[in-house]
Amino acid sequence: MLKTPDVLLLLFLVGAADALYKQWIADTNYENKTNWDKGAVPCGSDTVQFPAQRKVSVFVETAHAVREMRLPADGEFILNSGAGFYVVNGQEPGCGAGVTTQFKDSESLQWFNPALWKVAATPSDLQNGNFLFSVHEESVPCLYDDVVFKALSSFRVDTSSSQSIIPVKSVSVLGKVFDSRSEFFQYFSSRSGRLQFHGSSAVTVGNPGCGDPSGCDCGNSVNHQRICSTITCTSLSCKKPLVPVQHCCEVCGAIVTIHYAARFNLQTYRERIRHLFLILPQYKSIQLGMSKVMKSQQLMRVIPFGASPEIQVVILDGENGTQSEALAWDILKDVRSHGSNLGIVEAEFQASSGSSSDQSGGNAGMVVGVVFGVLLVISLIIIIVVLIQRGVIQMPSMPSLSSLRNNVNVGEVGGPLDHGYDNPIFDKPNMMPDIPTLYGPEVNNSISMTQTGVHFVNPVYDENETDFTA
Ligand SMILES: *[C@@H]1O[C@H](CO)[C@@H](O)[C@H](O)[C@H]1NC(C)=O
Repeated sequence: MLKTPDVLLLLFLVGAADALYKQWIADTNYENKTNWDKGAVPCGSDTVQFPAQRKVSVFVETAHAVREMRLPADGEFILNSGAGFYVVNGQEPGCGAGVTTQFKDSESLQWFNPALWKVAATPSDLQNGNFLFSVHEESVPCLYDDVVFKALSSFRVDTSSSQSIIPVKSVSVLGKVFDSRSEFFQYFSSRSGRLQFHGSSAVTVGNPGCGDPSGCDCGNSVNHQRICSTITCTSLSCKKPLVPVQHCCEVCGAIVTIHYAARFNLQTYRERIRHLFLILPQYKSIQLGMSKVMKSQQLMRVIPFGASPEIQVVILDGENGTQSEALAWDILKDVRSHGSNLGIVEAEFQASSGSSSDQSGGNAGMVVGVVFGVLLVISLIIIIVVLIQRGVIQMPSMPSLSSLRNNVNVGEVGGPLDHGYDNPIFDKPNMMPDIPTLYGPEVNNSISMTQTGVHFVNPVYDENETDFTA
């Protein structure tokens, strides 16, 4: 089952920094029936009509018979070898009496529409239909992404934005990959280029890829408004909808937040989650999007201070969110046993059911613990003071105020009260990082994790049935 190309692909993945392939979905191909107003590719008895005032670039793959063709004022056919048009006299068999068919207008399709892109981790994933789910901002090409327009196809995309340029790493058009800035500029300004790309902004290539193995911030926040203007959010029925960073809508499901350290590799971790969990039957309907985001930090959940990068894992399962929550717990369990090995410092989650991982420790949990400890001690002191005062009333021989103060002091400094200050977390030796035992088995795990990755041939790929984009 283990094929050589898969092993090579894995090696490539392990070494690669995180960047994604974004493929434009729509096309202006003659053979695509969705491009015709009658929902069918015209046949030999039909009259073909292109909107007169529109510019269009149309890829034609094979030869077609037509009765008549009305061409636009400006446009081009890109003919595959063997493609072309011929006229038949009279009625073509099987074509009926003939109709007038209009080529649909693709003028309004926008670069910044997340619904018009598909996301994949590798070119072969793109080919095999292994698409990734992403938050809206990341569905559109990011600064360091490779942009793909399908090989045998033409397109027309409106690149208007508030920025003068749209920088990406590379663009592939009609099977040719452009990664040199000047070469693509030449193509972009050519006649073909102007028919395919229109709008106020220029797409530029040659942007450096993401050099950080832990991932890069997409860079589309500046276009957030424009991206979200194309999205209609559905109404939700869950108790506590969540707001993922870089997303346009509230969601029902769960969000896992991962705080990472030096060794963390986003692409490897994404693969790990895919192979450990997403292939399981109970997680079949899950959509999971993982990206680095800049999240504004809050001190004790109230006072904001700065923004720090973290990994956001958005998990959706359609309506009720129970599978999302179960997967969030699975991810947390995995982090607890293998986190140090994966370069993960800490992970927590929030679910739209209202539950979260807070009770299970972490920094926030510790702060809450300390606050509660202090409150507990203060109330104990008050109770004791009250009791002592009652004692004063009940015991006539009770002496002066100074000995009363001494009693209070005894309560504060020594004795059983002192335990109120002790945080149980510090007392438990097993909560402290135990370097030798952690590293012994974990080093082995590191190897076995890589080997898990070597099981790259997995049911998802083989059965061709997973489409996380849904
Ligand atoms: C036809 O176009 C639609 C929408 O533009 C696209 O989703 C679909 O994949 C295209 N079909 C083919 C066979 O490329």
